[in-house]
Amino acid sequence: MTDTPADLVIHGGIIVAADTMFPASIALRDGRIAAVGEAQAMPAARESFDAAGLHILPGAIDVHVHFRDPGYTHKEDFESGTAAAAFGGVTTVFDMPNTIPTVADAAALRGKHAIAAAKAHVDYGLYAVLGEDTIDKVPELVEAGIIGFKLYMGNTFGRIATPSTGAMLEAFEVVAPTGKRVSLHAETNSVMERRQAKLVAAGRTDALAHLASRPAVVAVEAVARAAILAEWTGARIHILHISSAAELAPLRDAKARGVDITGETGPHYLMLGAEDYARWGGIIRVNPPVREAANQGPLWDALLDGTIDMIATDHAPHAPEEKTHADIWSVDCGFPGVETQMPLMLTEVANGRYSLSDYVRWSAVAPAKVWGLYPRKGVIQPGADADLAFVDMARAWTLRDAELHSRSRISPWDGRAVQGMPVHTMVRGRFVVKDRALQPGTRGHGRPVHDIQQMPAPAPRNTDQTIAAATATVVPGAAA
Ligand code: NCD
Ligand code: ZN
Repeated sequence: MTDTPADLVIHGGIIVAADTMFPASIALRDGRIAAVGEAQAMPAARESFDAAGLHILPGAIDVHVHFRDPGYTHKEDFESGTAAAAFGGVTTVFDMPNTIPTVADAAALRGKHAIAAAKAHVDYGLYAVLGEDTIDKVPELVEAGIIGFKLYMGNTFGRIATPSTGAMLEAFEVVAPTGKRVSLHAETNSVMERRQAKLVAAGRTDALAHLASRPAVVAVEAVARAAILAEWTGARIHILHISSAAELAPLRDAKARGVDITGETGPHYLMLGAEDYARWGGIIRVNPPVREAANQGPLWDALLDGTIDMIATDHAPHAPEEKTHADIWSVDCGFPGVETQMPLMLTEVANGRYSLSDYVRWSAVAPAKVWGLYPRKGVIQPGADADLAFVDMARAWTLRDAELHSRSRISPWDGRAVQGMPVHTMVRGRFVVKDRALQPGTRGHGRPVHDIQQMPAPAPRNTDQTIAAATATVVPGAAA
């Protein structure tokens, strides 16, 4: 407690932490949490806010969104994407680099930073691509401000070329000493390209042919190979969109060996299955594919036992005409998710599958810790940014594509019954969404988070055997 008045005190809510929940008031000052405790212990404040009946969660951190800006703004832009995030209780997003231009050098990165700074309603980190021929750009990208690197082991929307294993090893050698994490689209390109070509030649154009082109072994081989290279180099890695039970074995093995490897899955892998292709057709096409329903149980178990660290959405918006071709191979991959993740996951809390604390660990605490933002983000305690999702757990409702705030209003969640609604969303002390309405003047409120990122000290390995070490110029005359 202090004599300086607070800007706002929130009364009556139930605060959700990683291991407990408790009723408490929250005092905010200058965008940060100043105090948490009993109402009478709060400092004087200029305003108060009544959160009676609501749970207050640290805002979700969605580490995998595609906001398409610049280049594909008919699908989404930084303004619509971050508005959708705010409606979903998401207060920080990490945006992917498969835009036009690809974020593979500092000039492209600076261009995207300018766009995001002007348009974002919520805080953001920006990813840069690690490609076959752009490894020399690592220093300038780190300098210009990134949350981490993205490496596409397999082709997906944007058709960013897949680096060879040789380039991947060199990329890990170069990134390891920076301490940044490399997030991997872990699907092995050669396997799925070959299968897709044969499926096309055989005349398959149905939606399930997409799943047939990318069986789980595509991901298993990629996760195992990435873990080997990370172990050798000491690079930190993150496995994006884990879709299969089979991938969990190489992930668990790598964790047991001490590899700095983390993983995410998303609601569509937990809640949709192969039987849903008949209903949704191309709308459900996403990379990696939604798989046989038998994968769901092991994925849930892996979240609960910590093998999978977090939930992220791979929010991948496209226009309706890009999602509805009869020939599955010409349908764009992905669908929006940043706005529906929280209600979908809260529904399983309402169903008794896990606790709100479990959810907060997967949606906020783990992403903040894994990317060095904790305890500034991901937790409700003094000193943290006041990034808050106010949730009404009693509210049962139905998701409707037409009501999404994304520019892409086409998803396999349309008509789905959910329970638990994010009612208000606050980013650094300011309501961006209040009573399910976007607040005026919040465009441009979002800030980049790379400047508050504090990764642990880098731990590169086998540095005497890197390409750089092996090719270092010998000083003339230095040899005996
Ligand atoms: C993503 C996209 O549309 O950008 N699509 C997808 O199917 N997931 C790319 C990706 O994350 O693979
Ligand atoms: Zn991907």
